[in-house]
Amino acid sequence: MTRPTLEAVRRSVDAGVATLLDAVLAEAERSDVAVHLVGGPVRDLLLGRPLRDIDLIVEPRDGSVVGADALARAAAPPDARVVSHDRFGTVRLATADASIDLATVRSESYARPGALPSVAPGSLDDDLRRRDFTVNALALPLSAAARRGRAGLIDPGTGRADLADAVLRVFHARCFHDDPTRALRAARLAARLSFRLARSARSALRDAIGEGAFAAVSGDRLRREVERLFEDARLGLDPAVALRLLADWHVLRALEPGLALPPAALPPLRRLGRAIAEPPIAGLRARPWVVGLALWLADLDATSRRRTLRRLAIRGEIATRIAEFPKLRDRALRQLAATRGRGAVDALLAPLGDEALLALYVSAPPAGRRRMLRWAAEDRGKRPPVTGADLVAAGLSGPAVGVALSRIRIAWLDGALHTREEALALAREVGARVARRTKQRAARAGSAGAHDGPKRARKAARSSLPAPEASSILPPSSPPPNRALHPERQ
Ligand code: CTP
Repeated sequence: MTRPTLEAVRRSVDAGVATLLDAVLAEAERSDVAVHLVGGPVRDLLLGRPLRDIDLIVEPRDGSVVGADALARAAAPPDARVVSHDRFGTVRLATADASIDLATVRSESYARPGALPSVAPGSLDDDLRRRDFTVNALALPLSAAARRGRAGLIDPGTGRADLADAVLRVFHARCFHDDPTRALRAARLAARLSFRLARSARSALRDAIGEGAFAAVSGDRLRREVERLFEDARLGLDPAVALRLLADWHVLRALEPGLALPPAALPPLRRLGRAIAEPPIAGLRARPWVVGLALWLADLDATSRRRTLRRLAIRGEIATRIAEFPKLRDRALRQLAATRGRGAVDALLAPLGDEALLALYVSAPPAGRRRMLRWAAEDRGKRPPVTGADLVAAGLSGPAVGVALSRIRIAWLDGALHTREEALALAREVGARVARRTKQRAARAGSAGAHDGPKRARKAARSSLPAPEASSILPPSSPPPNRALHPERQ
């Protein structure tokens, strides 16, 4: 286990964070205030893992008013700002590129299971014991006042031994009653650190589930934990392992009856974890939790999928995308396997948003993944020899421009067209064909109904416009896959 020292902390953080930490400690020495590093960063330091944030707690001397807020304000360098959350809560000291969180020691009580805690001033011991797991309840005294009368690490439970044994142990049997979201934290930590839940913690969790504690937790709080679970893939967490644990602990069905982890979701989720840690396609801007939920829920029945999204307070466009992912996936994977030619692959993939692309990639069989990687590396960023503006200048207008552009792109990627002149010639041909069809349909519609003639003619003209070339890639009856998942691309 790494020796926990201030020097080791400094070495484990960015230079900007170290500067803020030095400023806080200098002020703490000046005003003789006790400052400790606490929680996750102490745990990660001892495990020799990178620290992702710095959490400090401030112990005011008896009768002193110097708590986290006053200390942060006095310590703030000129380029830093201080954001206070509440009277006893956390204070963030931040510059443009770094931040650290401070809090005054406090105790917490829960008015009812699942509610947010009520906070009151407390001792360092209270503050450590209110925490979820013993390995998160360690404090490392940093300032002279914090070290006074103490020998090294403060461990009110069995944190150090549990770290060595790779165990998540709770302080008391009501830990999950107080805050059922700790079950998701437990799965996240267990998966990330390869820890297991102690038997007593399993039993505390079973009791909380048996007593219906999860029903009291808001969808927003649950969703935030689910988000963190997928985001931690950046730190090496395998989401399939975390969700497997939640299923084994019966947490999934406590969140929502019918929610499960279908075995078919495991391989894509595992690949997603690796893809988030090391992106296979450069420059994709995908929120891990959106892709993760789409994969996880894809093989559940539609009702359970909808209910789970509602339970996690996911609404609107994101909910629609996640709910409709299975349709997109099945159609796009079929087409990816069947299409021939680089142009056709591009026509299938280019309209997809980044999240759909990533979800599709990790869902695809090896041959499909290879095709996607080749497309991303070789064709995705290529620009054909003409732009939409060139086509408008050449006399095309309306939907004919989009149709012609996509025809040109396909022909160009397939090597059937090379020059700007050839592209413009194809554009003119497409433009003339679209115009002819529009006219024919309008004429048919006009002779079919004299009353609502103009309206029907316009409608007929619109419906005559789907790209004839698109139907060579997509079944005529189905919209292009991007329509369902990517309204913003329409
Ligand atoms: N905590 C808790 N119950 C929660 C959330 C947090 O007891 N529902 C405690 C944990 O002991 C944790 C500390 O508050 O160590 C700070 O929370 P957070 O920053 O979310 O956790 P870290 O452990 O710092 O971060 P991570 O788990 O992501 O490494």
